[in-house]
Amino acid sequence: MQEHINKDVEDHPVDPYLYSCFKEKLTLPPLPAEEEQKLLKQIEKNFRVLLLPWILTTTNYEDANFLEIGCGDGKYGYYISEYIKHYIGIDIRKVSIQSAQDLLRDRSNCSVLLNDGLSLEKIKDKSQQFIFSYQTFIHMPDESIILGYIKEILRVLAEDGVAKIQLLGPFHKKGYRIEWIKLGTLFPNNEADSKVKWLVKKVFLKILRFVPMDFIFPIFRKNAHHNPWGSFGAFIHPSKIIELVNENDSYAEVLPSFYGSSAGANTYGIYWLIIAKKEAARPFFVTLG
Ligand SMILES: C[S@@+](CC[C@H](N)C(=O)[O-])C[C@H]1O[C@@H](n2cnc3c(N)ncnc32)[C@H](O)[C@@H]1O
Repeated sequence: MQEHINKDVEDHPVDPYLYSCFKEKLTLPPLPAEEEQKLLKQIEKNFRVLLLPWILTTTNYEDANFLEIGCGDGKYGYYISEYIKHYIGIDIRKVSIQSAQDLLRDRSNCSVLLNDGLSLEKIKDKSQQFIFSYQTFIHMPDESIILGYIKEILRVLAEDGVAKIQLLGPFHKKGYRIEWIKLGTLFPNNEADSKVKWLVKKVFLKILRFVPMDFIFPIFRKNAHHNPWGSFGAFIHPSKIIELVNENDSYAEVLPSFYGSSAGANTYGIYWLIIAKKEAARPFFVTLG
């Protein structure tokens, strides 16, 4: 892994540590104010699905510390920090940290920190009741980085804390592969589908009327899913992570991540990893999204 780090630092001397998956889309182009507002509104909607039910169903959330790994420009922190005691966002990119600091300037309960991309060294042991990471682990280029972070999450997670981390499934990279599709997600869409695709879906649904709508079937695929932020990183089988978490006397489970990109919505290609020190700490609503 050291080799990989040195190579990336050479390629991108601006940042202390960058990932191959981010090479092409290292910084986002600045958006016009109107677009920026639209994006903020979209993030608010995401927040209401992915985070708010979890926060509100956690006991004493007002006194809780919240850590976000890969906070980007801090838009989730903007909404999260209204509910909890203290929010920390960490990210490897200086440009993200600067934007997040700008956005959260007036929030006295927020800190945004540049990290080394590998560890949570600035965070105290057992200090975080909430740990969240969205669209970030899916870019991490090797298994060892993901496992290293999981160990760090176990170190900083409070005894009553819960982590919700989005992970990449095996189906995203280019190349012949099998993907799993739920019949119920195959409804033809007049606007988005080409005529052929629309017809295929319609026929398919008719033929398969004898199976339940949550029937999952394999399809053969060649092209990679589109990712506007860069490319997809390493796939690590969730059972490896669960094993690591269990070895550390903690609880983990993996759920499909449906909300968001079409890749996540239609296939079992993106997961939520839920980690808790005790199973009882895991509120039901952490499972949404
Ligand atoms: C696609 S953006 C998502 C940002 C934010 N979570 C959101 O959903 O709006 C991924 C972010 O993760 C950061 N990132 C990538 N690898 C990271 C790592 N190893 N440690 C910390 N941050 C990382 C990137 O710099 C980037 O800001």
